[in-house]
Amino acid sequence: MLYYNYFLLFVLLIYNIYLFYSIISSQKGKYPPFVPAPYNTRKIIIKQLSPLLKGSQKSLQIVDPGCGIGSLLIPLARAYPQHKFIGIEWDKLLYKICLFRSRNLQNITYFNQDMLAYDYHDTDIIVCFLVPKIIPDLQKRLLETGKKGTFIFSIDCSFPQLTEIACFDSHLFWQSFKVHQYQL
Ligand SMILES: C[S@@+](CC[C@H](N)C(=O)[O-])C[C@H]1O[C@@H](n2cnc3c(N)ncnc32)[C@H](O)[C@@H]1O
Repeated sequence: MLYYNYFLLFVLLIYNIYLFYSIISSQKGKYPPFVPAPYNTRKIIIKQLSPLLKGSQKSLQIVDPGCGIGSLLIPLARAYPQHKFIGIEWDKLLYKICLFRSRNLQNITYFNQDMLAYDYHDTDIIVCFLVPKIIPDLQKRLLETGKKGTFIFSIDCSFPQLTEIACFDSHLFWQSFKVHQYQL
């Protein structure tokens, strides 16, 4: 038990050092640091996506811009092998972790690049957990390169230029998180 507590403390310390480094390297918070999407918000997205993914005859493309370690994409890719999942992550270490975690999945691809340089024209669904400061740039990129009808599920960040079609509430302890749904 004592060793377990030391181990947890060690992991927490490494994560804090990483957060500090990533906040500095991400232009003081302009770009989101790595924080996995809260479990309940992931559950909401998986539930809301399920009729879309189950009901589609054609293979859909689902993209997570800023996919971290793939916590949102990997469960979906496992559950829906008929669809194609794409993670975009510019941090090399997180990208490598994604590749390792998905080594047995054929329907998931990762790009180690800036999400703002990605071309979204083939994307059917976007799932994301970002920070408000990056949204105007991402929104502009989506409007420029995305196609009409693409669904967006965004945890905690709203896209002011798009019309919200649904909003779901979830909680992590005392903190509330909203999942906003849009369509381009
Ligand atoms: C809040 S995390 C989201 C993780 C993941 N989507 C999830 O829900 O578990 C945001 C991620 O975006 C990545 N990121 C931030 N800015 C980026 C950019 N411009 N291009 C690609 N990835 C970026 C960060 O490295 C971080 O891993």
